[in-house]
Amino acid sequence: MTHTMRAYTLNSFEETPAFADMPIPEPGPNEVRVRVRASSVNPVDAATSVGAFRTMYEYRFPSVQGRDFAGTIDAVGAAVTRFQPGDDVFGMVKRDYVGDGTFAEYVVVDAQRFITVRPEALSLADAGALGLAGVTALQCVEALELQPGATVFINGATGGVGAFAIQIAVLGGLEVIATARTGEEERHVRELGATHTVDWTTEDVTEAILQLRPGGADGVIDLISRDPDSFRRIAAAAGPGGTAVTTLGAARDQPEDGPVTKNIHSDSDPVLLTRIAEIVVDGSVRVPLVDTFPFERIEDAFALLATGPLGKVGLQLE
Ligand SMILES: NC(=O)c1ccc[n+]([C@@H]2O[C@H](COP(=O)([O-])OP(=O)(O)OC[C@H]3O[C@@H](n4cnc5c(N)ncnc54)[C@H](OP(=O)(O)O)[C@@H]3O)[C@@H](O)[C@H]2O)c1
Repeated sequence: MTHTMRAYTLNSFEETPAFADMPIPEPGPNEVRVRVRASSVNPVDAATSVGAFRTMYEYRFPSVQGRDFAGTIDAVGAAVTRFQPGDDVFGMVKRDYVGDGTFAEYVVVDAQRFITVRPEALSLADAGALGLAGVTALQCVEALELQPGATVFINGATGGVGAFAIQIAVLGGLEVIATARTGEEERHVRELGATHTVDWTTEDVTEAILQLRPGGADGVIDLISRDPDSFRRIAAAAGPGGTAVTTLGAARDQPEDGPVTKNIHSDSDPVLLTRIAEIVVDGSVRVPLVDTFPFERIEDAFALLATGPLGKVGLQLE
């Protein structure tokens, strides 16, 4: 076996990310090594790879980028009983530093976190694009704690997380109002199960929701607002008895007369990964892959992501 692997790394804040040959990592006693065969690019990867989180997280250079993975276990640590070499797995890496990511031929992960078995009926490409966006969407919908028949407004519904969130909400019996531009985007979110759409480029979305539902929606999932004031305006579409969640850390203070607000941080608990896989396998949710690129063309994958595709952009590493 060769001792180096191809990886897409950031080597310093002064450079752009590039391919490099890196040592193949060795698993520790409680870790497994995965031969990565599929992945996907997420907005967070685009931000991370230009150093956007340098004031929040340590970057360990050369810093391998990437969060999602699907592949096959090829080595296990001495204390690992959950997996063995040859197991097909998928997951999502979440570390407290930037590095040791999944845009590489191999990744080492804790055997108890980040990873679960890939069911045979879940394709490699789908599994590679499922972890981060799928689990985040699942967490967002569940955090609303709504009963079937309730209404949820999804702001930013036309991207990767939104496509999963619409479908998961519909699966839970919720009525979905989704943001979408008129035309192709509107058709896309309706095909995923949205009942109503709001064109955020021409309408004040909160006012549009309150016109549609004078008491407000029961829940709001905000995938767009980056600051507390913007989030508060979007959250107001939920009405006083409702709940509003944000994936961008924009929920700060809890307004006394407004909806309950929550920040959602993706959780790579294997139980959540297994649950999202189950609802894909049983046909309730489809992975919204718009295109898949070979690993060597990762920059084309990022270029497509930057155009605002209606779903996920995958990577193939074999
Ligand atoms: N907290 C966490 O752990 C976590 C996990 C996953 C994702 N996230 C974050 O959650 C956000 C959504 O993720 P994603 O992967 O779904 O991103 P995405 O694929 O970029 O989707 C965002 C969508 O919203 C649309 N949009 C842009 N501005 C809008 C506006 N003002 N109103 C309504 N829609 C608008 C975009 O359209 P155009 O492309 O045409 O502009 C795009 O279709 C990202 O910021 C991501 O970083 C956080």
